[in-house]
Amino acid sequence: MVKKRACVFISGSGTNLREIIKASRDYNFPVKVCLVASDNEKAKGIIFAKKFSIPYVCLNTNKYKFEKTILKKLFEYKIDIICLAGFMKILSKKFIRNFKKKIINIHPSLLPKYKGLNTFQRALKSNEKLTGCTVHFVNEKLDSGKIIIKKRVNIYKDDNVETLKKRVQFEEYRAYSCAIRRVYNFN
Ligand code: GRF
Repeated sequence: MVKKRACVFISGSGTNLREIIKASRDYNFPVKVCLVASDNEKAKGIIFAKKFSIPYVCLNTNKYKFEKTILKKLFEYKIDIICLAGFMKILSKKFIRNFKKKIINIHPSLLPKYKGLNTFQRALKSNEKLTGCTVHFVNEKLDSGKIIIKKRVNIYKDDNVETLKKRVQFEEYRAYSCAIRRVYNFN
């Protein structure tokens, strides 16, 4: 099987990156992680690119320089799909239009609820009983592209941001690889 070539964008701890890399080592997984891009030179997640010998680019710069440089790299590495995993910059419309292939993102809520930041705090404050995560295509509006998969997580009375985040992240790891399989119709 010829695998599609993925670039994972991160800004922080990169645990979703780690799980995507692990999933991609399966012969039947539709993508190979060929490049990691970070907008933060101190992103802990870079450690996973190093560990698995995946080329990476780190650029602490403004959005436009970042996008210009990364776009060149995406073509150089013949990237078919971008997976945003804890990437904190909002990509410009121009970048999204320029990368006409595929960009997907993971968001820690059941979209369309709680777009944007601080999703756990907001769900707890609203006394939600249920939250979760969503993997979706990226379009020009924040957290609004077509949904690929959602995973639900119960909220318990004694939950706080940390306990909830931990359970949601556990579901994120499964959700991201399921979503990638779904994008390429491997189920
Ligand atoms: C995840 O919770 C993801 O939903 C959000 O940022 C977090 C990234 O975590 N967009 P990690 O860097 O993958 O550990």
